[in-house]
Amino acid sequence: MEPLATIATLFRPSGAGPSVRGRLDATLVKVADLYTGLAAGRADVDPRGVLAALRVDLELHFALEEGDAYFGAFVRERPELAHGVAELREEHTALLEKLDGLRAMASALGASPELAEPTARLVEAFREHEHKEADLLQEAVLRDEGTGAD
Ligand SMILES: [Fe+2]
Repeated sequence: MEPLATIATLFRPSGAGPSVRGRLDATLVKVADLYTGLAAGRADVDPRGVLAALRVDLELHFALEEGDAYFGAFVRERPELAHGVAELREEHTALLEKLDGLRAMASALGASPELAEPTARLVEAFREHEHKEADLLQEAVLRDEGTGAD
């Protein structure tokens, strides 16, 4: 096994490799298009397909973040982050559950305008989570480099 890189070199905004992040970002663009179509009452959108792709991409994204090389490395180098990282893991689970609820709605309703708002809320919750994660882990990196506020 290779030696552990410093916490600064481990830090990446997405926590996932570029190809995975690119796929998730591409799917999020499709989710945005889905939202626009649903909100406009269009019947030619595919909520089940788009949300199924989002489920696959998000699950992989979260699994990579939770891996030994990312969250694991932060907690090893900064044990005081353990509680915050545990909260991030719980948010991953909650986001996947929220998405599963939305997928169930999509199965029941089809391309209904009723899906638009919960779709937007899910993406908003994911973005908030990403910001929280970046704040927590970036703060640790800045402190590590001695450039933090404190
Ligand atoms: Fe995350």
